[in-house]
Amino acid sequence: MVGSAIRERFPVFRDKVYVNSCSQGALSDAVRAAYEEYLDGWDENGAEWEHWVERSETARAAFARLLGASPDDVAIQTSVSAAVSGLVSALQFRGERNRIVISENEFPTVGQIAHAQELRGAEVVQVEPDPEAYAAVIDERTALVASTFISYRTGAVHDVEAIYGLAREHGALMLVDGYQGIGALPLDVATAGDVVVGGTVKYLLASAGLAFMALRPGLVEELVPVQTGWFADENVFDMQIERYRPHRSARRFDAGTPPVPNIYAGVAGVGLIAEAGVPAIQQHVRGLVERLVGGLDELGGTVATLPRGPLVCIRSTDAPALVAALGEDDVVTSERDSNLRVSLHLYNTEDDVDAVLAALAHHRELLA
Ligand SMILES: Cc1ncc(COP(=O)(O)O)c(C=O)c1O
Repeated sequence: MVGSAIRERFPVFRDKVYVNSCSQGALSDAVRAAYEEYLDGWDENGAEWEHWVERSETARAAFARLLGASPDDVAIQTSVSAAVSGLVSALQFRGERNRIVISENEFPTVGQIAHAQELRGAEVVQVEPDPEAYAAVIDERTALVASTFISYRTGAVHDVEAIYGLAREHGALMLVDGYQGIGALPLDVATAGDVVVGGTVKYLLASAGLAFMALRPGLVEELVPVQTGWFADENVFDMQIERYRPHRSARRFDAGTPPVPNIYAGVAGVGLIAEAGVPAIQQHVRGLVERLVGGLDELGGTVATLPRGPLVCIRSTDAPALVAALGEDDVVTSERDSNLRVSLHLYNTEDDVDAVLAALAHHRELLA
């Protein structure tokens, strides 16, 4: 179910035209009920330790299905930052192969963590966000290649498969930050990269504090993180302090107590996406994006996004003022880098797109 068939499950649409899933997905009845279930269990049973572990495994399996991975190749994380830090803690940046290649579209956390590795001998190379630019710098000196799936700044969909091909050709590891697309566009870890990270705040319809890292089959045995914790142990129930004994699976990247309330919410959010089906969401969103871009053309607006996914960035002479002006008209958007961000998801409709266009016509003077 997409569009008007699912919309009533998201109360925000009673009063707002919500086109800001790139910041946070809308709250559904299912996610609210999941939080209530967590609180009810706490009231009724106190600590539900074993149940928490089971919930964590349910989330792991749900993320795995979404990304075409095996649950044994998925780690539960609290943020993409924690996931990327855990991953790089398993890499060495010594000797000849010490380079990290990132694009100018990476989310700050990826760029900053890459530069933090300079303290461990890494050298960071930043390129324009296209496969040709990556091809010009990836070589035998490259340890890690990072590419966002969709730019949070421009909405551009990166050709991660082509970039992954380049990384593989030169024996480098490829990291894909899928946060801005997973849930709205298909992303399969087998073709996208060696490691895919993302979280539940945006197109997976849940709240902050839950993220994941999916690895391609066979990779986990090669990676031993030094960022760790008791949930990464071979047997979390052992409570041993004698040695570091990383789990044989991607659970070795789990760290402390799982983010239990967020897991309840995350399982519900991913459940809604799975029920609707990512291909159906992709098709629905594509239609809405075409309608938006067509309408913007008629208005004389400039779209900064190509190739396009669910996030359309529109040039503005004063993006914060435009976000505020649209907000006055009950249209919820966001901005980055002089661009207005309009993001469309399963619950949006043609009426939403028309309302955005009407509000933009009203504030045409703020379009660049
Ligand atoms: C592409 C991308 N990566 C990562 C993040 C956030 O990462 P974290 O979970 O560490 O806050 C965002 C949030 O806006 C994002 O858009």
